Amino acid sequence: PSSTVSLSTGDLTVGGVPLAEAAERFGTPLYLLDEDEVRTRCRTYAHAFPDADIRYAAKAFLCRAMARWVAEEGLGLDVCSAGELELAVAAGVPPERILLHGNAKSPHDLEAALRLGVGRIVIDSPSEIARLAAAAGAARTRVKVMVRVVPGITAGAHEKIRTGTGDQKFGLSVADGSAQHAVARVLTQPDLELAGLHCHLGSQITSTKPYLAAVRRMVGLMARVRDTHGVVPPELDLGGGHGIAYRPGEPALDVPALARKVRAELIESCATAGLTVPRLVIEPGRAIAGPSGVALYRVLTVKRTEAHTFVAVDGGMSDNPRPALYGVRYAPRLVGRHSYAEPAPVTVVGRHCEAGDVLAAGVPLPGDVRPGDLLAVPAAGAYHLSMASAYNLVGRPPVAAVRDGAVRLLVRRETLEDLRSRDIGS
Ligand code: LLP
Repeated sequence: PSSTVSLSTGDLTVGGVPLAEAAERFGTPLYLLDEDEVRTRCRTYAHAFPDADIRYAAKAFLCRAMARWVAEEGLGLDVCSAGELELAVAAGVPPERILLHGNAKSPHDLEAALRLGVGRIVIDSPSEIARLAAAAGAARTRVKVMVRVVPGITAGAHEKIRTGTGDQKFGLSVADGSAQHAVARVLTQPDLELAGLHCHLGSQITSTKPYLAAVRRMVGLMARVRDTHGVVPPELDLGGGHGIAYRPGEPALDVPALARKVRAELIESCATAGLTVPRLVIEPGRAIAGPSGVALYRVLTVKRTEAHTFVAVDGGMSDNPRPALYGVRYAPRLVGRHSYAEPAPVTVVGRHCEAGDVLAAGVPLPGDVRPGDLLAVPAAGAYHLSMASAYNLVGRPPVAAVRDGAVRLLVRRETLEDLRSRDIGS
C-alpha cells in the first residue's frame, strides 16, 4: 500500500526503524507515522497540481507536527472545528491558507475563524449566511466564502461517506435550486465575498471519472451564476476523497492522472461556457495521511474454535473504528516472522467488549501465531486516531514519527490518570 513503509515478511521496518524496536520503546498499541512518506505525498500533489491550492483535510489526522510538515511542503489545511483550527495556527500554518468547513459550525467555530483570519469559510446551509454576515459585520471584517454545492454525483466507497448526491446532510443542492439561492444571498451581503464554489463528492474514490463529471456540473453552475448575476466566482474547490489501497493489490486513485484529466476537462468546459478558468482548490486527507501510518499491536490471546482462530490484540475499535463503521478490510502482518509457515486464516479482533470489534477477518497469518507476537496494520494513518475514543476507558495510543532510521514521540499515550481527571463528580 505504500512506497517507503516496508512490510514484507521478516523484521518489518518503517522509515528505517524496526517496528519491534519502536514497540519496545513506546509500548503498544502504537501508531507510527513516516514523515518522509507524508512529505513525499504532499510533493506529489504539489507537482501534479502546480496551479492549485492544496488544503490537507486535517480530519484524516492532525497533530502539531503533521500540520507543520504539510505547511512546510506548501499546503494549507481544511479544518472543520475551532479545535482543528487553533491547533493548526499554533503549529504555524498561515491562517490565510486555512479553510473552515462544517455543516453545523458553532458560535465558537465562527468566532475563532474570524479572530484568526482564516482564508475561506465554506457555507453549508442557508441559515449560516445571515449568521456569518452578522458576525463579520460585528467584527468589521469582510470574509471570503465558498458555497458548498451538492452536484448530484454518486461516488465514494460506502454509503456513510457519500456526499455528492441528495439525502445526506452536507451542502446545498443544484437540483432543487438551493445552491443558486445561497449564491444569490451571499452576493447581497456586503461583508461576504464569494470566493468560489465547492463540492466534495465522497471519500475513498478510486476512479477519476466522478471528478470529471463534477467539473462539468460545477462549471455549468458557474456559467449560470454569471448569466444571472453577472459575476464569476474565481475559485472552484473539488474537495478530497482520493482513494488509497488498504491491502496489497487494491487500486488507489492515480493523483497525476487526476490532475491531468481535471485540468483538461476544466479548460474544455470553461471554453465551451465562455468562462475564464477558475483557480482550482483540492482537499486530500486520506491520500496523504493514510499510507504514511502503521498501527502496531501486541497479541494478547489466541483462541481456536471449531470455525475460527481469533487473534486478540491490545487495541481495537477504540483506536480504529473503521472496520466496524464501514466494513473496511485491512491486511495485518506479523512482525519478526521470516516465513509464514502454514498460513492459516485468522480473525484479528480487538479487546473491547463487543462482538463487532473485529479488525480483520479471514486474513492469512502464521499458523503458530501466539500471545506476545507483534502485529502491524499498514495504511493506518487516516481516520483511525482522529476518530479514536476511550471506549471501555482504554486510553488512546501514542503517535511516534519515524525518519532516517530514528523514531521520536509526537503525541503521548492517554493515561488512566488523563481519563480519571475529567471525572470530577462525587
Ligand atoms: N473535504 C471535505 C469537505 C470532506 O468532508 C472530506 C472528508 C475531505 C475533504 C477529505 O476526504 P479524504 O480525501 O480524506 O477522503 N471517516 C471516513 C472518511 C470520512 C471523510 C469525511 N470527509 C473513513 O474513515 O473512511
